[in-house]
Amino acid sequence: MTATQKSSGAKTRRTRRTGRRDPLAITLLKKDHREVAAMFEEYEQLEAEAEKLALFNKIALALKVHTQIEEEILYPEERGTVEDDLLDEAYVEHDGAKKLIAEIEAMQPSEDFYDAKVKVLGEYISHHVKEEEQPGGVFAQAKRGDEDLEAMGERLKARKEELTAQLSGKKTS
Ligand SMILES: [Fe+2]
Ligand SMILES: [Fe+2]
Repeated sequence: MTATQKSSGAKTRRTRRTGRRDPLAITLLKKDHREVAAMFEEYEQLEAEAEKLALFNKIALALKVHTQIEEEILYPEERGTVEDDLLDEAYVEHDGAKKLIAEIEAMQPSEDFYDAKVKVLGEYISHHVKEEEQPGGVFAQAKRGDEDLEAMGERLKARKEELTAQLSGKKTS
């Protein structure tokens, strides 16, 4: 712990385990992780097919935006800082998730295996999130590097807004 690292006061972003403040990039990505986990949990409670479809669409959008900002910004910029194997596995896991999302998107909630596929996607994502956040994982290694994760956080945030508008069909012009 650096003794000079006093909180600016306005915002406290501290990790539960160490009490140390997370840089913005990590805070934002972890927040996405929590939000999508909550949506998967909410899905479990749904009965109506229209509600399932609407919520799945929200989950799919959130996951597409999140994986894309990691692939455009975090992963390439951390190449050389974070172990190659970890980053390679993260890309492969993203690809697996994208395939499953596409399969679900091609289905109707009334079909056999729809709920099962959503459930498995949730488990798959939760495994991936654990790997990113665990001690020695992508986030932990990134935090030990020299990249400015505060500035990266601003870029992640801007790109997230842009992609969310784009992928949800909203015109930004
Ligand atoms: Fe990821
Ligand atoms: Fe992530």
